[in-house]
Amino acid sequence: MATRHRAFRTAAPSRVALGLLLLLQGVPALAGPNLQAVMKTLGDDLCRASGALVQEDYPTLAEAARAIADHPRPGMSERLKILAGLGTDAERFRSADSAVQDAATSLAEAAEREDALAAAAHYSLLVEQCVDCHAGFRQRVRALLHP
Ligand code: HEC
Repeated sequence: MATRHRAFRTAAPSRVALGLLLLLQGVPALAGPNLQAVMKTLGDDLCRASGALVQEDYPTLAEAARAIADHPRPGMSERLKILAGLGTDAERFRSADSAVQDAATSLAEAAEREDALAAAAHYSLLVEQCVDCHAGFRQRVRALLHP
């Protein structure tokens, strides 16, 4: 009986940890969408922006660009995996995301001014930032998240 009792006591902390983990996963703000889902939405928003740019549909262009700039962050557990896995390169990954945010914000502002040429320039810069991060990190982060 004494042994069983001890076994229960040593198991208890991990049960608490498991319970906490399940609880956190149930909180959307902490769990968040996964990175792949965030990226799929970015891809859709970029297509929408591209269509709106050539149609001179400025409200849609501004809205799509704002959606890109304000994209949700992936959940805590993926963020921690990325940070830990990239080590000292995590900062470059983060700044690649900020570069996308800046380019998308400038694109939205150009759309709000209905300035087609400025919008086209910021759109190109935006696509370059997407591709730049993919070239540097996509395979590496994929391996971290889907081993
Ligand atoms: C900070 C780095 C970074 C930036 C910036 C970035 N991506 Fe990604 N992207 C990734 C990574 C990492 C993956 C692989 C994710 C995975 O497989 O879990 C990915 C995957 C994708 C995918 C494939 C999703 C799928 O179905 O597998 C699309 C589409 C995509 N990104 C679109 C974009 C667009 C559009 C932009 C710019 C508006 C962008 N990304 C900016 C890192 C980035």
